[in-house]
Amino acid sequence: MKNILLIGGTGFLGSALARRLASADFFLTLPTRRRDRAKHLTMLPTANVVEADVHDEATLARLMAGQDAVISLVGILKGNFQRTHVELPGKIARAAVSAGVPRLLHVSALAAATNAPSNYLRSKAEGEVALKTVFPMATIFQPSVIFGRGDAFLTLFADLLKIAPIVPLACPEARFQPVWIEDVVSAIVASLENSASHGQTYPLCGPQIYTLQELVAYTGKVSGHPRPILGLPPSLSYLQAWAMEFVPGGPMTRDNVRSMSIPSTCPAGCTLPFGLTATPLEAVAPGYLAA
Ligand SMILES: NC(=O)c1ccc[n+]([C@@H]2O[C@H](COP(=O)([O-])OP(=O)(O)OC[C@H]3O[C@@H](n4cnc5c(N)ncnc54)[C@H](OP(=O)(O)O)[C@@H]3O)[C@@H](O)[C@H]2O)c1
Repeated sequence: MKNILLIGGTGFLGSALARRLASADFFLTLPTRRRDRAKHLTMLPTANVVEADVHDEATLARLMAGQDAVISLVGILKGNFQRTHVELPGKIARAAVSAGVPRLLHVSALAAATNAPSNYLRSKAEGEVALKTVFPMATIFQPSVIFGRGDAFLTLFADLLKIAPIVPLACPEARFQPVWIEDVVSAIVASLENSASHGQTYPLCGPQIYTLQELVAYTGKVSGHPRPILGLPPSLSYLQAWAMEFVPGGPMTRDNVRSMSIPSTCPAGCTLPFGLTATPLEAVAPGYLAA
């Protein structure tokens, strides 16, 4: 296996995956909507960053030619979930089949379910179905929240804690089992050429469950900005999220609140696949959160 198409490979997870794959001498094709946003990947010796509309089926067909594997990573937290999470995986699977690409990997989300409380989680589940209907041997990954340098989670709270004297926190009791980005990358890479993973779905979690309030308090401690946290009840959490929907680039929506109403955690005793050992948050987060 040599040539890999990473769709959604320019983001947080995709960039880490691209770096790992490039260091293992895979040739990567990385479509992006805006090449200037993927400058950090153009330095990789075996990566070809191309501006492309991956929703266009003719473009997808061109991108698939000659690939040995496709990894589908496109995801959004707000916007057109139907187009991005449901239709796109279906198109990717159809294009992969038409082009005879033998391997398809897809990143979904933990707790994705067709009866989940949020559009995000329902659309992720529908996307899995759309993809698997066409490409049953695809391998799917369902991470809990992913942490690591450049994450949009703990780093965002660290930035907020720097300036806010007190944190009014929506969904303080929401539960997560954060998984380290390099562990997610290791799982994806390990599955690439592992035939036992064909058709499988892997939940990916770290070693420990935390409430959101615990994570924010921990971030404050290690970033050197511990602040009082005011946990908001459900009605105010919803109101805060609604208000943030009016802020351009706002960090939260009511749909995110609905996602957090169910735990993003793995069943007790669940471990990472392929013999991987999950890295504790405390072993990594101080390295990028410390002031
Ligand atoms: N980060 C987490 O904590 C987490 C947890 C669970 C699941 N996941 C899933 O893991 C995957 C990767 O997440 P991430 O954190 O790396 O996301 P990210 O940093 O936001 O990157 C998103 C990627 O998707 C592409 N993209 C976004 N909207 C698009 C659209 N409308 N059309 C085409 N491409 C689009 C972006 O490409 P360009 O901007 O370059 O075009 C980028 O490559 C997603 O499927 C996400 O749902 C992430």
